[in-house]
Amino acid sequence: MNILLASSEVFPFSKTGGLADMVGALARALANEGHEARVVTPLYRGIREKFPAMRKVDWYFDLPLGLKNVQAELWELDVVSGLKIYFIDQPGYFDRAGIYGDKHTSYADNAERYIFFSKCVVHLARYLAWRPEVVHVHDWQVGLVPSLMLQQKMAGWGNPPATCLTIHNLAYQGVFPEEAFALTNLPESIYHTEGAEFFGLLNCLKAGIAYADFITTVSPRYAREITTEEYGCGLDGMLRRRHKDLAGILNGVDYAEWNTTKNPHLPKPYSIGRMAGKKFNKSELQKFFGLPVDESAPLFGTISRLAEQKGVDIQLGALSEMLNTKMQFVLLGSGSPEYERGYRDLARHFPGKVAVRVGYDEKLSHRIEAACDFFLMPSRFEPCGLNQMYSLRYGTIPIVRATGGLDDSVIDWTQNPRLATGIKFSEYTSRSLAKAIRKALVLFSQPKLLQACRHNAMKADFSWERTVHEYLGVYKECKARQK
Ligand code: ADP
Ligand code: GLC
Repeated sequence: MNILLASSEVFPFSKTGGLADMVGALARALANEGHEARVVTPLYRGIREKFPAMRKVDWYFDLPLGLKNVQAELWELDVVSGLKIYFIDQPGYFDRAGIYGDKHTSYADNAERYIFFSKCVVHLARYLAWRPEVVHVHDWQVGLVPSLMLQQKMAGWGNPPATCLTIHNLAYQGVFPEEAFALTNLPESIYHTEGAEFFGLLNCLKAGIAYADFITTVSPRYAREITTEEYGCGLDGMLRRRHKDLAGILNGVDYAEWNTTKNPHLPKPYSIGRMAGKKFNKSELQKFFGLPVDESAPLFGTISRLAEQKGVDIQLGALSEMLNTKMQFVLLGSGSPEYERGYRDLARHFPGKVAVRVGYDEKLSHRIEAACDFFLMPSRFEPCGLNQMYSLRYGTIPIVRATGGLDDSVIDWTQNPRLATGIKFSEYTSRSLAKAIRKALVLFSQPKLLQACRHNAMKADFSWERTVHEYLGVYKECKARQK
């Protein structure tokens, strides 16, 4: 099958979170299965220098954007057989220091940037000699693609591809003032309460939900959650109306990237049968962070965007309580200044026990996963979550709140000690999280139990080879349900 994926970030070219990992890995998995996958994404600053093999394509975009026309060029890179990446080169929009914004503020013209990007996706799908059968769009940045394709169909596009929208996070919808709708050049008939309009504002994700042939999200539990008022972020009604066209597919892991045996980021490799490397990595990380090098101190870690979603408030509360016991904690993350301050304060209160690194660091994220005994992920909600699955493969026991993909990917120690891969708690409070940390300390004090849990975790298989068929099934459904 020919599939065109469209995403505002794709690993290893650009990344702010799991979206990039997911799209990069899914595209590769499709190609490995013998399909033809192509990905279209913006050419952000620095990508061309890092991937000098990319070529300029003899192609020129000149597309209407409201009352003006905007131009762009196209670059391409062949990654492996069956996988090509297209980059939209529009320096005014994409040659900037950040992807969505500068340190703490979003770019003021994000509506314009991503409406333009969406138009480029549609233009490529229509005019490339290679014909996609399905266009698979990810998140609000390309949420308008299905309605733009429908418009072109009405304007004479003979047999357009079917469309699939994947919602990676319903909390981010791309909501902009009504004036931004004019930039789409779509007819007013799209701008209504069952379409792109949301309480008098343009809502890009809602337009995707309304007009895509099929909708997926990134775990079965989150697919159920988003049809409830509690998790629906105002779109639950619309999602309930489309529940027959909605499926939850748990993300996979790219084990070529996230593994402990052949990983250039790790000081020492290790595996189920040879765990000495994990001990070594722990002591190296303790040294790196200036913590006492002590094998007997249980080491907890978190790597995260510091956003409300991630449960930072209950984590700070639970850690303040638990750090009086023998344990260490390391954080790698960036995001809200208030949360960054919260962790820095924690480090000041518990010197020699807490180390905090504010920033984004791919290499360090692997080292933390490999070194820690436990990984904390107490999210308020979590569409899928990748770090708990990376933790499993790294033999680092995840402690997660039972929500979304966290619930779908971890087996709790108290519920099923024989098959357990981690520790789960339900109530969104510091107290429940502190209780879960206490359980972890008990587990740490019983090496045999800890070892059994680690083995289960490291054996768990969340590979894309297992999951990719579910997407192929969805693509068939898209074609069958095409509008
Ligand atoms: P989300 O996409 O909601 O941020 P996920 O768990 O799906 O959450 O994916 C997060 C991805 O981003 C993981 O690959 C994680 O390692 C990475 N990540 C998050 N914060 C950082 C950071 N500060 N430095 C390096 N990697 C990070
Ligand atoms: C989003 C979600 C996260 C998910 C990721 C990849 O960023 O917050 O839970 O794992 O997308 O699908």
